[in-house]
Amino acid sequence: MRVVDLDRDMSDVIPTGLTPDSEFLFGRMTELTLDRTLGTLREGHRPRVLDVASGVGQDSIALAERGADVIGVEPSSRMTGMATLFAADKPGPMPRFVRGWSDRLPFPDASFDAAFCKGAMDHFDTPERAIEEMARVTRPDGRVVLAIANFESLACRVGRALDDFRQDWLRRGPLRSRRGYDAPSDHFTRYEPELIREQAERHLRVDHFEGVSLGWGMPGWSKWTARMPLGVARGAVASLDRIGRQWPGLSDVIVLSGTPLRSERTSA
Ligand SMILES: C[S@@+](CC[C@H](N)C(=O)[O-])C[C@H]1O[C@@H](n2cnc3c(N)ncnc32)[C@H](O)[C@@H]1O
Repeated sequence: MRVVDLDRDMSDVIPTGLTPDSEFLFGRMTELTLDRTLGTLREGHRPRVLDVASGVGQDSIALAERGADVIGVEPSSRMTGMATLFAADKPGPMPRFVRGWSDRLPFPDASFDAAFCKGAMDHFDTPERAIEEMARVTRPDGRVVLAIANFESLACRVGRALDDFRQDWLRRGPLRSRRGYDAPSDHFTRYEPELIREQAERHLRVDHFEGVSLGWGMPGWSKWTARMPLGVARGAVASLDRIGRQWPGLSDVIVLSGTPLRSERTSA
């Protein structure tokens, strides 16, 4: 049974008072996702882009400001309402926000140059169907981009190993009550690199598989970055990000992109 709060807003998702590690992670995840979405599209043409699970619309608005013709699709009326309000006082052509589910996108085949989904697939009850749908609505040489948290990141592995050690050897409880390596209660899927690659490769010719940030959520790391001089903290998280790019399997977020494969269903 599908259980989604259609009145949900982002108050439990958007962190207030970002520390340098979080600021970097969210900023870089967004930058890479949007760059890959627009990346190889034809110059001099206004690309038509679909933002799947667009939330409060900040990414759709950013792409519209970069010249794309954007539709954000999102089931929550509260979020689409907020997105429409945020877009209302911006200059220039703005996105259109429509209500809809990722597993049945209300658009014809090949009607977009690109489709992306950022930080949301783990909330879907049928995420692979969402990838198939994104491939269907994107033109054959267009782009599909997926950005997802990695629950087998280095930070998750270290956090889990420390808690296991405390529990098994010291007979103590976990370091934090909210264990970052466990998927939150509103996630249906606990994504790790092999799973997202496997699901994506059934519907996309994957040409980029990239890591963003390293060490986010490592016990104590966030507090350390907040105490360091800002320039030092920013330098440290950027250096770790370079390592995460080399080893995407250990990074905090995976950004994957490719071109649609035509399935029997989508080419019918
Ligand atoms: C964590 S938010 C991410 C929003 C946005 N992409 C961002 O990066 O800020 C997850 C979003 O997924 C939406 N969602 C949940 N289930 C969905 C589904 N089956 N189809 C489409 N969107 C869904 C929620 O309403 C919510 O807006």
